[in-house]
Amino acid sequence: MKNNATIQTMLDHKSIRKYTDQKPFDEVVRTIVRAGQQAPFASQYYSLLLSRNMKKNPWKAPLLFTICVDSHKFELIMAERNWKIVTNDLTLLMFGIQDASLMAENMVIAGRSLGLASCFLGSAPYRADKIAAEYELPKRVFPLVQLTMGYPTENPPTRPRYPLSFTLFEDKYPKLDPSRVSEAMRAMDDGYLAQDYYRKAKAKIPLEGDRKETFTYDNYSWTEHICRKWGQWYPEPTELLEQLEKRGFRITKKQT
Ligand SMILES: Cc1cc2nc3c(=O)[nH]c(=O)nc-3n(C[C@H](O)[C@H](O)[C@H](O)COP(=O)(O)O)c2cc1C
Repeated sequence: MKNNATIQTMLDHKSIRKYTDQKPFDEVVRTIVRAGQQAPFASQYYSLLLSRNMKKNPWKAPLLFTICVDSHKFELIMAERNWKIVTNDLTLLMFGIQDASLMAENMVIAGRSLGLASCFLGSAPYRADKIAAEYELPKRVFPLVQLTMGYPTENPPTRPRYPLSFTLFEDKYPKLDPSRVSEAMRAMDDGYLAQDYYRKAKAKIPLEGDRKETFTYDNYSWTEHICRKWGQWYPEPTELLEQLEKRGFRITKKQT
């Protein structure tokens, strides 16, 4: 494989959940956000909230960014030009999520290049009302994901990924026969088991319903973990739709 400083920074990525007390200088923070902003965008449909409240931030991180999809700001711009949004909120959210995600990952990489580490937190959409109250968000601003950042005090190994052949499909999507699926599952599971990841993190997801527990930390690994998430959690979109609606986003069909 080719390599250079940029590629190596990306290949060294690992989520970090333990930070020193050192507060990054303003210049560092501004550089990271500026690098984030320079990500490609469809319409810069985002805003970024920052908390430096180490006492309150998850893992006492010196920086907590909350990345939001922001229709409010755009509506102000459109009003200046005597326009109103007619595009439906699902489309806007889709573009907003794309814009915001690209910016966020640029920040992760920029941060890493300056010696900072980070970890995303995915629960923000389900706590959107609480985050909105905390940051006094206007309607039409929706917290998408949070990102802790700071100087690391842990150095875990990099986590496994699928084999490239299970990710990159050239010209057409292949028929994924069971042996290819098993190979990808093995790569992930063996990788996590070799790191004893779930035992160390005490992160086994309990089984709901009639399923009997047969796994121990000797064989509980990533594919079982992810099955337990998407095989048990949030069967209905109700919670998320409620949060979106509270924030002024309407995803269900317009009433006629
Ligand atoms: C959208 C998103 C949400 C995430 N949410 C959480 C979270 O709530 N808690 C957590 O500890 N890690 C969270 N992570 C980090 C992932 O667990 C981590 O990226 C993944 O396990 C791969 O590990 P690595 O980043 O060290 O390579 C999240 C990552 C993403 C991209």
